[in-house]
Amino acid sequence: MAMKLVASVFILAVASFCQALENGLMRTPPMGWLAWERFRCNVDCKNDPQNCISENLFMEMADYLVTNGWKDLGYVYVNIDDCWTAKKRDAKGRLVPDPERFPHGIKALADYVHSKGLKLGIYGDLGIYTCGGYPGTKLNQIELDASTFAEWGVDMLKLDGCYSSAWYQAKGYPRMTRALNATGRHIAYSCSWPAYRGGLPPQVNYTLLSNICNLWRNYVDIQDSWDSVLSIVDWFSNHQDVLQPQAGPGHWNDPDTLIIGNFGLSEEQSRSQMALWTILAAPLLLSTDLRTISQSSKEILQNKLMIKINQDPLGIQGRRILQEKSYIEVFQRPLSCSASALVFFSRRTDMPYHYTTSLAKLNYTQNAIYEVQDVYTGEMISGLKITDKFTVVINPSGVVMWYLYPIMYLDQPFSFLNQFYKSETKKFYPFPL
Ligand SMILES: *[C@@H]1O[C@H](CO)[C@@H](O)[C@H](O)[C@H]1NC(C)=O
Ligand SMILES: *[C@@H]1O[C@H](CO)[C@@H](O)[C@H](O)[C@H]1NC(C)=O
Repeated sequence: MAMKLVASVFILAVASFCQALENGLMRTPPMGWLAWERFRCNVDCKNDPQNCISENLFMEMADYLVTNGWKDLGYVYVNIDDCWTAKKRDAKGRLVPDPERFPHGIKALADYVHSKGLKLGIYGDLGIYTCGGYPGTKLNQIELDASTFAEWGVDMLKLDGCYSSAWYQAKGYPRMTRALNATGRHIAYSCSWPAYRGGLPPQVNYTLLSNICNLWRNYVDIQDSWDSVLSIVDWFSNHQDVLQPQAGPGHWNDPDTLIIGNFGLSEEQSRSQMALWTILAAPLLLSTDLRTISQSSKEILQNKLMIKINQDPLGIQGRRILQEKSYIEVFQRPLSCSASALVFFSRRTDMPYHYTTSLAKLNYTQNAIYEVQDVYTGEMISGLKITDKFTVVINPSGVVMWYLYPIMYLDQPFSFLNQFYKSETKKFYPFPL
């Protein structure tokens, strides 16, 4: 009884020591579902009623988010993308949903989504037309559209940038921030602006973006292929000195949706996308058919430790810390409570690769004993010191992902943490010796 009490007091102490305050919007990367990559601009409800962009599709995805465990893990956004409107605005100049595909309107859809404890995202385009050729938002329509979205009860806006220009975007994106704020409704704001300006300074001002947007698409759209995932990972890694410092609570880089569960990735590649997006502190936006997703894809996307790492309250984006022999890369993300995540990634296409290294080689300098958990297998490694050599076996186009944290500081004998370390078992032991 006494032992139990000590243990729970300790766990409480650690938990409160490690928690961060959350109040504003998107203090951690948003999680949910977004239509685009999987369902595109399919408006053919006559021939393909199950898969066309319609209120039924979004209501069904909302149902699946709730019943299949997604919502409880944090996947709460149900996001509409392009091709939801009628081809023309109404007589008052307002955007209207396509009357055949959204017969009950967006307000009713928002009510439905909210009744399930979820949030609704919508799509607009700062320009003459959306990318799919539907009505865009011109500069003088920004306030009208913001108030329309707020009246409908929308929780998030993705503002695309087709049929636009650099000048138009520099005027329009900040103006939408002010317009959304003026509605009085908290609407998270995703800006596609940098993706249309090459994603890098001097064309892109990331200081300004973090002041006005909660997230932004930096680079090209993802497609349903491993090549596409690789090109995105390469671009983000090659420009990490610019991009990595921009991310933090309330403002995130967005490498685009997860394509896990679709047609283009093997199981190993799916694990890789999930691990690398988590290192990048990326939004976890599913773009797959939740009605037919396989059990193995679901397990990857519903990995609790993975989600905990992605949602770490410090919100520090990770980096590629090492490229070796052109086919092994190591990524690292610092986490709260002195924990961190490591991803060992292989670009080989032959067979599982045995990669030997040590934490010291990976720039770990804190002389401590670490507890390691393999994020995919759940396997624990106890008692790892920074100079200990270890070997990970990485499958072709796959990853090994570790979550690790110090359990005893070797150069700080009186550290609070050390009280709980029991040397005979080399196990973390939540009782004083
Ligand atoms: C509007 O902006 C102010 C100042 O940044 C902020 O305190 C407030 O919460 C914002 N309101 C909405 C609805 O976004
Ligand atoms: C970027 O935007 C910030 C915030 O608006 C501004 O202070 C800064 O001068 C801009 N930087 C450049 C290079 O334009």
